[in-house]
Amino acid sequence: MESQDKQVTGYLLFSLATAVIGSLQFGYNTGVINAPEMKLKSFFNVTWYKRYNKDIDPGVCTIVWSVAVSIFSVGGMVGSFSVGVIANQFGRRRSMILVNSLAVIGGLLMGFSTICSSYEMVIAGRLVIGLFCGLFTGLTPMYVGEVSPTPLRGAFGTLHQLGVVVGILIAQIFGLEALLGSDDLWPLLLALTVAPAVLQCILLPFCPESPRFLLINLNREEEARNVLVRLRGSEDVRKDLQEMKEESAKMAMEKKVTIAELFRTAAYRQPLLIAIMLQLSQQLSGINAVFYYSTGIFSSAGVQQPIYATIGAGVVNTIFTIVSLFLVEKAGRRTLHLLGLGGMAVSALLMTRAVEAHSLLSVQDNIAGMSYVAILAVMLFVAMFELGPGPIPWFIVAELFSQGPRPAAMALAGCCNWTANFLVGMSFPTLQGWLGSWVFLIFTGLLIVFFIFTFIKVPETKGKTFDEIARGFSSGAPPPSSSTEDPPASASTAVTLPASPVKE
Ligand code: GLC
Repeated sequence: MESQDKQVTGYLLFSLATAVIGSLQFGYNTGVINAPEMKLKSFFNVTWYKRYNKDIDPGVCTIVWSVAVSIFSVGGMVGSFSVGVIANQFGRRRSMILVNSLAVIGGLLMGFSTICSSYEMVIAGRLVIGLFCGLFTGLTPMYVGEVSPTPLRGAFGTLHQLGVVVGILIAQIFGLEALLGSDDLWPLLLALTVAPAVLQCILLPFCPESPRFLLINLNREEEARNVLVRLRGSEDVRKDLQEMKEESAKMAMEKKVTIAELFRTAAYRQPLLIAIMLQLSQQLSGINAVFYYSTGIFSSAGVQQPIYATIGAGVVNTIFTIVSLFLVEKAGRRTLHLLGLGGMAVSALLMTRAVEAHSLLSVQDNIAGMSYVAILAVMLFVAMFELGPGPIPWFIVAELFSQGPRPAAMALAGCCNWTANFLVGMSFPTLQGWLGSWVFLIFTGLLIVFFIFTFIKVPETKGKTFDEIARGFSSGAPPPSSSTEDPPASASTAVTLPASPVKE
């Protein structure tokens, strides 16, 4: 235990903080498009007018806007799918440096869009930024997991989602009209992502390469040892080295599984179905309808200062991620996921009610009351999301699969997540145009389906070893309810990615 006390060094914290800049970037670019919706739409119109001497058709404007929002996820799909190959080809640290060039390209495209009178540049920039974020949703958790000491991997692993939510919050605050959300400055708001990218590139050379990558992938034991000594602040790093060697040996024994094999093998079918459904439950809950479009949702519910309500949602988002961090090992994944989905379904109903009531009321009526209900409903929706459906799907996939099939399963799950993210981002404005205030009922319906699925199919993985979880699936019986001897399979497991390339 004594050597473990020394495990958190300034150098480790510095390396973690540097890597988490990637999570922050993902969050920032998720949240940044929300506030300047009107500015972007009017920029599309002005550009259209300059080119064709007439106003843009409102339907066309909605399509251009939806594309600008959701093409981000197309980039994310491709990026998340390719992370295994890049991380193994260039190493974790060098990959992060290289991938940052995408943030610079994307940021500059968006930043210069008004000067060049080109809304296509906004769309192209969002695509490149999506690619960048998709890669970082794999790179950051991988690096964080690989440099963290085993007993603290869970706590540090959650830094990724925390980085994401803080990034969203920063984007919301910078999006204020008084800051960068003004008519003139919104291109700068979108381009600001370049700054953390440059900062991370300056800091990364001072961080070590992942010791797991050095030892398991490159077989450079001496270098791995030196890195560990610096990270742990102790000469005695035998335990860490031993664990890595075991992982390495296990990997050599266990056959790597391709995505095609994942589908073909009967034993993986059940966990695969669960992994995919949980990713879908995260995105099809409608969370990003809120994070991409909440300013519009609040306006239609009669909220006077929608941007402040949006920031409020960001604050609640951050608080409940921290709450979940403390609850997940106590309450369990299954319980929190069910609670979150159920709570979100109720909040979505409440949101529908509030927006609907507002559209029926006349100006003289008390609309303020209803707009408070709308704010409350959105806050509850976001809080319930972060309790379970936000953080859990990201790490439970790693718990459901053993070493061999894990990389393929994670690439597939990540890609499903981003695809569903794309579908929601793309279709929400059009659906809202058709259904008006009833639009959130779609999410209520989906949330109920996912609730039932989770209730019937998802086992509790808290406190179980990978072996116990896998045995539960292969015997057809639910896994044993608890294991006292084994350490909890914590959130850390999400980041103990094997270093093998994703074959496909
Ligand atoms: C999760 C989701 C992401 C969402 C965020 C909100 O990380 O993957 O799409 O925007 O949570 O906090």
